Amino acid sequence: VARPVPVIAIDGPTASGKGTVAAHLAQALGFHYLDSGVMYRATALLAQRQGIALDDEAALAALARHLPIRCEGGTVWLGPENASDAIRTEAVGQAASTLSALPAVRRALLDLQRSLRRAPGLVADGRDMGTVVFPDARLKVFLTADAQARAERRHKQLISKGISTTLTQVLHELEQRDARDTQRSVAALKPAQDALPLNTSALDVDQTVHQVLQWWRQRS
Ligand code: DC
Repeated sequence: VARPVPVIAIDGPTASGKGTVAAHLAQALGFHYLDSGVMYRATALLAQRQGIALDDEAALAALARHLPIRCEGGTVWLGPENASDAIRTEAVGQAASTLSALPAVRRALLDLQRSLRRAPGLVADGRDMGTVVFPDARLKVFLTADAQARAERRHKQLISKGISTTLTQVLHELEQRDARDTQRSVAALKPAQDALPLNTSALDVDQTVHQVLQWWRQRS
């Protein structure tokens, strides 16, 4: 019997470093990479542009179901538009966090996320990769880091992009998003029962990737 295409699920709160870690892992293993946050962000961006309210569940779900999205390397295409930068603004992140609490939106994005499971394997990062989207993932990691450490990373990232903000402001927005992502009633951010927790407050990207690769080798 053929074994299913392996999935490594990397879940965790905002700015826990899961995006960077997941992308490095995918590269190291030659696996495909799914950044599921991109799909919520793309839905939020289109909703913003089309004037769809963030509580209009039916309209948002319809938008999500027909999302004209394509991810190539680090580039996110929405139809013919390179939307890589537009989806990364703080406003779009907050809107994504809000609409991601709607069950119909989450359902609408399920098939799209699962369709990316292709040989030789997939590294998927998000909030519910191990709990809902790929419950049979071969390895599940739950990345955490202190809010302070995450705020410092995010702050540095924003400054390097020329976006002016303060550490206090970043910390505030991050705590708001944490609260929303953990308290929602569907697919709330929480570790899968069989996820391995990894606190990265004192680890850099290489050390984190190294640890996950070690776990992976023990399972494959
Ligand atoms: O990972 P991110 O910051 O790009 O995600 C943006 C928002 O999308 C996040 O605040 C919550 C939501 N999200 C989600 O609900 N489930 C996922 N698997 C990924 C993201």
